[in-house]
Amino acid sequence: MGQNVLITGTGRKQALGYNLVLRYLEQGDTVFAGVRKPSGALDALQAEYPETLHILTMDIGSTTSVEAAIQTVAAEVPCVDLLINNAVMVSPDYDKTLEQANLDYIAGVVDVDAVGPLRVVKAMLPLLRKSKAALIVNISSEAGSIGRCYRTNMIDYGMAKAALNMATMVLRNTFRDEENLNAICIQPGWMRTNDGNAAAPLIPYDHAELLRLLFEERRRDKEGDAFITYEGEAYPW
Ligand SMILES: NC(=O)c1ccc[n+]([C@@H]2O[C@H](COP(=O)([O-])OP(=O)(O)OC[C@H]3O[C@@H](n4cnc5c(N)ncnc54)[C@H](OP(=O)(O)O)[C@@H]3O)[C@@H](O)[C@H]2O)c1
Repeated sequence: MGQNVLITGTGRKQALGYNLVLRYLEQGDTVFAGVRKPSGALDALQAEYPETLHILTMDIGSTTSVEAAIQTVAAEVPCVDLLINNAVMVSPDYDKTLEQANLDYIAGVVDVDAVGPLRVVKAMLPLLRKSKAALIVNISSEAGSIGRCYRTNMIDYGMAKAALNMATMVLRNTFRDEENLNAICIQPGWMRTNDGNAAAPLIPYDHAELLRLLFEERRRDKEGDAFITYEGEAYPW
């Protein structure tokens, strides 16, 4: 029997979340695919995997929405073995520098991209704790590395991903004495997830399989590096 997987932000066919959903379904796993609005791509996939794909309406910016969604998961399965916090948003001023950007956008981005994953983890704790070996993967970015920061733009995104990295360490500390619970964050590399990323080297469908295998390898590794690249190397915080 396969594992139970929940992935957030999965409605776009070209993006990472959808391709992770597809890879886990191909393995025979049961997948809860989070979306904040209906997705034609996921509806089509459900026709192929009617038993194992559950589409889950969940806005990670809303505690009420997250709690309601996780209640429906708990009605379907006794545990969740893998949570991938993949959803992300940026503000319209994402590309702007300090002088140009409206700084009042930043808190909203941090609320979705860093607090959102913690909302999902908190609501799912009973389900994760019932797994024999649960892993939480927070999809971060090189933009969240303080040590490697070179940009003067992407202030909202960079701050949000740095906060997500901190949240990952808090989770690791929280689960220190729980053998069956682990958390990592990952710098997934530059992927061709939308038309603006056409020059990116990594193809989401191929890359999703590489990430799936990496997550399996790191599932029980509580002592190793917590912020890693898609090649499994440590990345600077
Ligand atoms: N693409 C890259 O090269 C790259 C590089 C480094 C890191 N990453 C990270 O990898 C992950 C996937 O990237 P991507 O490019 O595939 O992302 P993407 O195409 O921007 O997709 C993000 C998804 O998150 C969803 N989302 C946004 N706000 C949400 C909310 N409040 N509640 C629930 N879902 C929400 C979006 O939903 P809608 O469809 O409804 O808008 C969208 O489907 C992200 O965490 C990103 O930061 C990507």
